[in-house]
Amino acid sequence: MTSRALLETLVRRTGFTETHCQKLVELGEHMIPLASEVALAFYDYLGKDSEMRELLWAIPGRVERLYGSFAQWYKEVFSGQYDGAYAQRRQRIGLVHARLGIGPSEMIPAMGIVQELSLEHLRMVLRPHEVFPAVEAFEKIISIEIALIEESYLAAMEEGLRQGSAASSKVALVRGAEALLERGAPS
Ligand code: HEM
Repeated sequence: MTSRALLETLVRRTGFTETHCQKLVELGEHMIPLASEVALAFYDYLGKDSEMRELLWAIPGRVERLYGSFAQWYKEVFSGQYDGAYAQRRQRIGLVHARLGIGPSEMIPAMGIVQELSLEHLRMVLRPHEVFPAVEAFEKIISIEIALIEESYLAAMEEGLRQGSAASSKVALVRGAEALLERGAPS
């Protein structure tokens, strides 16, 4: 399935409408200026876990670079441009993490932290009656984000197994992600 077709399926399954899209763009006014602050809090959280800390600090300058990559990712959550190219970028980000052996048990709680940090801010800046529609739109795009990452993990695993990397699911995941990224997937 192409990235665009996958996105269309996810849009339908989450019930993501034009109204949700517009709401996210509106929220961007409050949230985009916060991107660097969320990035700092996010890596502060990841750094509290010894395994993740080791990975983040394994290469000099990596975390500093990640602040920028994450902030860009966060801004795109509120961009209103959810098309095939967006889905492709998200799947590629999934593959970059799969190649590093970062599993769902690290990615899903991390996404939970993004939600916690964002919802806390929404609650502070919005009026009470504005909170529910904002949370509804935000949760829908986050479901789409998670599904795109998960699908890229499945594609990597499938590719790894196809290539005969059956020693463990992690080996298959890492090798498959390497192969897909080298090939320039997803399309
Ligand atoms: C909500 C979850 C996450 C988001 C949105 C996110 C975002 C990103 C982005 C946008 C990149 C750059 C990808 C690229 O090069 O194209 C990246 C790379 C990376 N992320 Fe994450 N990340 C998440 C979770 C995690 C977790 C749980 C870890 C665990 C340590 C992690 C560690 C890394 C590392 C090591 C890189 C590669 C950095 C390099 O280029 O050397 N990320 N992440």
